[in-house]
Amino acid sequence: MDGNGRWAKRRHLPRVAGHRAGVTAVRSTVETAARIGVHALTLYAFSEENWKKRPKSEVDFLMRLLSRYLKAEVPRLNENNVRLEYIGRQYELPEDVQERMAWARESTSHNSGTILTLALNYSARSELVDAFRSMVNAASVNGGFEHLRIDEDTVANHLYTRDLPDPDLVVRTSGEMRLSNFLLWQLAYAEIYVTPTLWPDFRGVHLLEGIAEYQKRERRYGGLNHGDSSHGDLNHANLNRGDSHPHSGPPKVSK
Ligand code: FPP
Repeated sequence: MDGNGRWAKRRHLPRVAGHRAGVTAVRSTVETAARIGVHALTLYAFSEENWKKRPKSEVDFLMRLLSRYLKAEVPRLNENNVRLEYIGRQYELPEDVQERMAWARESTSHNSGTILTLALNYSARSELVDAFRSMVNAASVNGGFEHLRIDEDTVANHLYTRDLPDPDLVVRTSGEMRLSNFLLWQLAYAEIYVTPTLWPDFRGVHLLEGIAEYQKRERRYGGLNHGDSSHGDLNHANLNRGDSHPHSGPPKVSK
């Protein structure tokens, strides 16, 4: 969700005006995702770095904005059958915000549609550190280290995203071309779509543009292009879930 500051600067407004305008973009994107049946949408609302390196006044504003958003938006999330989740070190956020977050999650927990995950005080490196700590801890209470077997599934099962599928598509707004410490493990095979649109101007239609672009891509997962593989190349077919054509159907999206 990049570009709030630039959006505000272009209008000679304070940065926080960009964050405020960004809420409309959140609403539009979430509603479109829900309407077209996106299974999971993860929004990088603010990083651990944002949280630790921005002026206190901006962080306080973001906390109030998040709290207000959650209070105002729960009925709409329920109307759209959206279930709310979070990733990040929540315990470092102000207690009243944590309480509001818990309330909003509980209030949407019965929904069976799109899973909206807000990354708050999130850092992919911290997530990996927490996963390693959690694996060591699990081994120490489950018979000791001689029984510890670590493979990709073990790591994935100790990440904050253990209950989410890996994203198919990552959308970067404001022309940024980097991952910025976001879901580093989970994005291993994600398709990246970069749009120059600044986050406050982003709407459902931009999400649809990203998905249309995604549907033109051929996902290879390290395999060969469709048509290049030798007859009976099961590995290739399996890796591409038997479908190496451009993907159809709504993907899991991260932003
Ligand atoms: C990045 O833009 C954006 C943020 C640090 C905050 C994003 C938060 C919101 C849009 C509102 C609250 C969130 C929810 C989920 C309701 P930037 O400030 O880095 O802008 P720049 O890239 O132009 O400098």
